[in-house]
Parts: sequence; structure tokens; C-alpha cells
Amino acid sequence: MIQTYTKAMFKPAERIAHIKPYFFADLGKRIAAMKAKGADVVRMDIGSPDLPPPGFILESLFESASRSDTHGYTLGQTLGFRKAIAAYYQKRFGVELDPKTEAIDLIGSKEGLFVLSQVLLNPGDLALVPDPSYAVYAVGAQIAGGAVHLMPLLAENAFLPDFNAIPSSALEKAKILWLNYPNNPTGAIADLAFFERAVAFAREHGLLLAHDNPYCDVGFDGYRAPSLMQVRGAKEVAIEFNSMSKTYNMAGWRVGMVVGNPQVVKFIETYKSQQDSAIFAPLMAAAEAAMLGDQSWLNERNRVYQERRDAVIDVLHAAGLWVAPPQAALYVWAPVPGREGSMDFCAKMLEETSVSTTPGVVFGRHGEGYFRISLVGDVKRLREGAERISDWMHKRGLI
Ligand SMILES: Cc1ncc(COP(=O)(O)O)c(C=O)c1O
Repeated sequence: MIQTYTKAMFKPAERIAHIKPYFFADLGKRIAAMKAKGADVVRMDIGSPDLPPPGFILESLFESASRSDTHGYTLGQTLGFRKAIAAYYQKRFGVELDPKTEAIDLIGSKEGLFVLSQVLLNPGDLALVPDPSYAVYAVGAQIAGGAVHLMPLLAENAFLPDFNAIPSSALEKAKILWLNYPNNPTGAIADLAFFERAVAFAREHGLLLAHDNPYCDVGFDGYRAPSLMQVRGAKEVAIEFNSMSKTYNMAGWRVGMVVGNPQVVKFIETYKSQQDSAIFAPLMAAAEAAMLGDQSWLNERNRVYQERRDAVIDVLHAAGLWVAPPQAALYVWAPVPGREGSMDFCAKMLEETSVSTTPGVVFGRHGEGYFRISLVGDVKRLREGAERISDWMHKRGLI
């Protein structure tokens, strides 16, 4: 018999009472309901890579999983993976890392993004968070009892934060400065000169600079993103999160990393040792193969993303909606035409065209006025999605 509950028996802890469910969890349910009624939904919302990793990565997973000694806990036994991280950083960025102290495994970088606030913020401390940005930077700070000072990312500043605009009252309480380039959701990129300024700023104000770099290997037109760790002395004030998810098409595998300042890396490691029990050994073996193996397949993979980007941009431009083509990451950051809020605009679009995109305001107040198109899906489907959007905007007299 299914029990019915007449009154709420439990109250959430205060620190989570006001936390809303992750946007994509609810959206996924809405889309499933539409599909159940027969709608042909084109999903251009979440940034989950649709292509698989290549055979040699899958073979390492299978090989490792086929052994009898790879099925136990791996806590405290991840040095091989950490060495692979160091080798990847050396080869890809020319950055030296000590695998014993300056690199650790994460169950997806999202885990570490959340944990960082728990290990550095006391109640009342501030995190400096870009707006718009990936939700976990701010929500992690709030759950830790900290507060957030938002740094607007504006088109006129190439979607880079203006450090000079941060008031000294905020700087006095701030502990963490978050950055993310190539950027989700704007698709903006940052060069080493900007990272040098960020490191100098963090040093001057006693901040931990936390750079989130999961899109570093998704670049177009030959663009290759730098690592913040390339800045001389970065390790003294900074850490960098990175991930298998986008680089190697392994988002569901949940394998990530944090590198850099050994003190902060240790805080995260200690916290994690109480919270989780590290990654399944075959997943790490495959991730090691991915990082140490031939990287040339990424060129073809990036060409596929670039073709999708061009298809979407061409349709939108032909329809009269000006959108800047991104040089990296998986997103087209498009202006909402007209005066409607992005939440209503995307909800109506989904209802009337069955194309799902992400309202810019989901990423913060300064994301209002934009909607995000993800380049995940077959190029024909993405073109069709962009055409449906364009026709719909025309019909509504928006373009
Ligand atoms: C900026 C940013 N950081 C981190 C993540 C999460 O990466 P992971 O799959 O490693 O948790 C995402 C995922 O979309 C992202 O956009």
C-alpha cells in the first residue's frame, strides 16, 4: 500500500531551506512530459556532450573493469591518476605540478567547486562570483553560510569582470575570487595577460583565486585556451578545476580534478575523505588513458562542434539576429530580441516550437536579456532547432 502523508514532518536545515532545485533537473522533467505526449523536442539547453569518447578510452575502462583487483575502494590510492594529471598539465600547458601535493581527483569538477566554499568560507565571508556564471560557485558559498558579491560580466568588457569596480567593503570580507574561461554561459575567452592581472589582484587582496577550466580543450578556428597555472607564481594564490567531461566527452563518468595551491588542495582532500570514497578504479584508468594518450582525435571532435556552431550562427544571422560566434566552449550566447524576460521567452519558445534553450537569467541577473544555445546534438537537428527558433521569432515580429 502506498502511504499518503497529510502533514509535513520535517524541516530542512536553515542553510538549505532556500535552495532551489538545479534548473536542468526541473527542465528535464518538463521535457520528458512533452515527449510522452509526442512532442519532437530539440534540446539545445544543457551542455552535456553527445559524442562518445574514442575506442582506446573505452578499452581501458573495459580492461581495468575486467580485472579482479579493481573493484574495491580507491580512497588514498589515486596517485597514478594524480601523476597522469601532472603529465597532462606538463604536456598541454607546460605547467609543472607535484602529483603528491598539487593535484587531486574529484568526482567531477562540480564536487570540488562546491567543496571549495565549504573549506574556505566562514559565516559572513564573501565569495566574488561572476554574473552570469555556473550556479555552483554562488550556491556553494550560500550553503557554507557565506555571502556572494556579484561581478557583472558585460558585453562591453568582453564578458570579463572589472576588478576595479569591486567595492573595498566587499574586498575586505572576500576570501575567494571565481573565474571561468572559456566561459559558460557567454562563450567568452581570456588571455594570459588577463590571468596575470587576476593573479596580481588576488595576491594584493589576500584572495584565493579559483579558476574553473573545463572547456580548455574545446576550441574553434585553431584557438587553444591557456591554463591560469601558466602565470608565474599562480600556485601561491590560485587553484584550477578541470574535468574529463567536456575535454574527453566523459560528462557522465564524473571524473575531474583540482590543481594548484597545495594548502587549499589539502583542505579539499581532507574534506572529501569524509564525504566520499574517491573514484571507481576503472574510471580512473580510462581517464589516465585519455590524458596520457594521443590527443589528435580532439581536432576532429572540435571540427564537429565548429560545424555545429557555424550552422546555428548562419541560421540566426540569416534571420537577422546578431550573435557573436564563440571561439571556445559549447555555447552560443544570443540576445533575447524584444523586451520579454529570458525566462518567459524560453518557456514560450519551448511550448510553441518544442525547442529547448536556457534562459540567461538562470546564470544570474546579468544574464537577463540573453538565452543560451548549447551545441550538443547532430548538426541537422541543431540547424532545424535554430530554424524553428528563427521562424518563431519572425512570426512574433521580434526580428
Ligand atoms: C563552467 C562549468 N564548470 C563545471 C562544470 C561541471 O563539470 P563536471 O562535469 O566536471 O562536474 C560545468 C558543466 O557544465 C561547467 O559549465
